[in-house]
Amino acid sequence: MKAPTISPLQAELINLHPALVDMRRMVCDGLRKKPRQLPAWLLYDTEGSRLFEQICEQPEYSLSRTETALLGKQAAAIATALESGVIVEFGAGSARKVGPLLRSLRPAAYIAIDISSEHLQESTNALQRQFPEVPILGICCDHSQLDALPDHPLLRGQRRIGFFPGSSLGNFEAKEAIVLLRNFRKLLNGGPLLLGLDHPKPKERMVAAYNDAAGVSAAFAHNLLHRLNHELEGDFDLDQFTYRASWQAEQSRVVMELVSKCKQLITVAGRQWLFTAGESLITEYSIKYLPEAALALIAEAGWDGVQRWHDPANEFSIHLLKPSNCTAKPKAATNEPSRATSQNQARA
Ligand code: AVI
Repeated sequence: MKAPTISPLQAELINLHPALVDMRRMVCDGLRKKPRQLPAWLLYDTEGSRLFEQICEQPEYSLSRTETALLGKQAAAIATALESGVIVEFGAGSARKVGPLLRSLRPAAYIAIDISSEHLQESTNALQRQFPEVPILGICCDHSQLDALPDHPLLRGQRRIGFFPGSSLGNFEAKEAIVLLRNFRKLLNGGPLLLGLDHPKPKERMVAAYNDAAGVSAAFAHNLLHRLNHELEGDFDLDQFTYRASWQAEQSRVVMELVSKCKQLITVAGRQWLFTAGESLITEYSIKYLPEAALALIAEAGWDGVQRWHDPANEFSIHLLKPSNCTAKPKAATNEPSRATSQNQARA
C-alpha cells in the first residue's frame, strides 16, 4: 500500500489496487471459463479509463449524458432525500457526475473509489480544486472485493451515503450484482445508496451504443488485450481479434466480446491458451434494468427502493435505496416490462 499523500489542493489517495499475482490468478480463472470471460474492471487501466471517457462522448452512447442531465436537474430534491453525511462513490471514474450533489448536499467529505489510480488521482485533484471546501479522499481498489472502508478520519463517526451511478451495476451478472449490493449495504453501515440504472432500449440503439461508428468501443475492448500483453507478459495479436457487441433480449443485456479470427495459441499470465477460430472472449456484459426488475434485485440484496427519478423519456432511473430491516429471501429477478408509474419523480 502506497503512503497517502496530502497537500491543500491535492486530494489524498490510498492505493489498494490488486497485486499482479492476484490479477494473474483472475485472468487465468477467466480464461478457463466456457465461454472465456474476464472481469470488467480489467478494462480500466489508464488508457482504458481514457477510452471510456471518449465512449461517453459518442453520439450513440446517451447513457452518461442522460444521467448527468438528470442529476443536474434533480440535485436539490436528491440532496434533500439523501440528508447529510459523507458521499462514497463506487467506480468514480472521471468523478464528473458528483458535482451537482457536492453543490446541493455540501457533504462532510467525498470519498471516490476507482480501480484506475492515475485516473483517480487526476479526477479527484481536479474536483478538489473545484470544491476546495469539501475534503476529498481517493481509494484505488476493485470495489467488488472491498471488505471494509479504510479507518480514515474523514469516515470516522460519519453517516455514509453511497453513490453508484453510470449503470455500472449492469456490468455484473445478477448473482454478482446481489452480492455487490449486499456488500455495499455492509460498507455503508446503515446509510442510503443512490443507484443509477439504464433501461433497455430497442436492439438497434443498444448495439450502436456499444459499437459506435468511430470505433472507440472496439478500441476500449482491444485495449484489454494490450494491457494483458504489457502487464501479464501476453502475446495477443490485437489484429487477430474482432470486436462484437450484441443484444440478448431474453437476458436484457448487451454482450461485448472479442472474437478470434483464426485458430491461435496465446501465451499470457504464464500459460498457453488455444483459441479456436470464432471463439469468443467476453469482455463485459451490460445488463439493462426496467425499474420493476431493478427493484426485485435490489430487494434480494437487502435494500428497499424508496424513491426514483427518471429523465423525461424514461430511459434512465436514479433509485434511492435504504437498507431493508428484514433479511431478504432469495428469489429470481425478472426483467419484465414495467407497469410502474412514469413520472419524473416516482415513488419506487
Ligand atoms: C461502465 N459501464 C456502465 C459501461 C456500460 O455502459 O456498460 C461500460 C461500457 N463498455 C462499453 N461501453 C460502455
